[in-house]
Amino acid sequence: MFEECTKVDALVEILQRWLGTPPDVAVVLGSGWKERAQGLLENTEEIDLRGLDNWPTPAVAGHGASLVLGTLPASEKGPQRRVALCEGRVHCYEGRPIAEVVRGVRALCRWGTPHMLLLNAAGSLRGDWQPGTLMALTDHINFGLPNPLTGGQNCGIGPEFVNLVDLYSPAWRERLIAAQPQVEQGIYVAMPGPSYETPAEVQLLRQLGADAVGMSTVPEAIAAKALGAEVLAMSMMTNLAAGLEGSQPSHEEVLETAQAHGEAAAEALAAALHAAGA
Ligand code: HPA
Repeated sequence: MFEECTKVDALVEILQRWLGTPPDVAVVLGSGWKERAQGLLENTEEIDLRGLDNWPTPAVAGHGASLVLGTLPASEKGPQRRVALCEGRVHCYEGRPIAEVVRGVRALCRWGTPHMLLLNAAGSLRGDWQPGTLMALTDHINFGLPNPLTGGQNCGIGPEFVNLVDLYSPAWRERLIAAQPQVEQGIYVAMPGPSYETPAEVQLLRQLGADAVGMSTVPEAIAAKALGAEVLAMSMMTNLAAGLEGSQPSHEEVLETAQAHGEAAAEALAAALHAAGA
């Protein structure tokens, strides 16, 4: 894994050289979230990630390929935050090795970013959480995404046997919920995708006690925690999971729902950023 470590370190050097000191919070904007962050930050600087050799850039519709650094201004809603927005992510289902899936997150953490906010789109496993519902993750069940720490991939930093109790920071989440009480809390189950689940799988996942199903976030959360970052993750329910009330999920529906509920999501995103750190 020496080679992977070299790639991460090379990216850290570029971030330091181009952007200086690390931000207070870095955000990975998943499907449907890129537009929610528009106009959020002031005094922005942007790096086109496609110009960086080793930063794997997203190919999925709804994901961007820039890293934007800027300031979320102080307001009555909370203090100023310096923020790095990663406009998209790469997924295992794109055929990417797990080291590539988490490389950007590792670089942001090794740069010194103390708080990592991971956003995604998910299918709701609950009839009472209709599309548009936002959920802060309390925990996850990993049902098929690789663990990024396998094979000593943590670049020799920190333990491999990472304790995942409170992986999703309870303190950060509580501050978010205090500011945005309509944000629900629940368990995210990660599936490999890219096909959506079968209705039978959806029934099984419901019986296991999961609240939302998606195809991302878990490897990034583990990699960030292993490097000492505080992690918060939030899902937007963009559809009812397959078969619930006759649901036939599609990527178009995911993007359309995210658009339709964009204002509430943008507000929750800003609140999550203000809530990072005491
Ligand atoms: N299943 C898995 N991933 C998803 C879904 C879903 O229903 N919706 C958005 N991402």
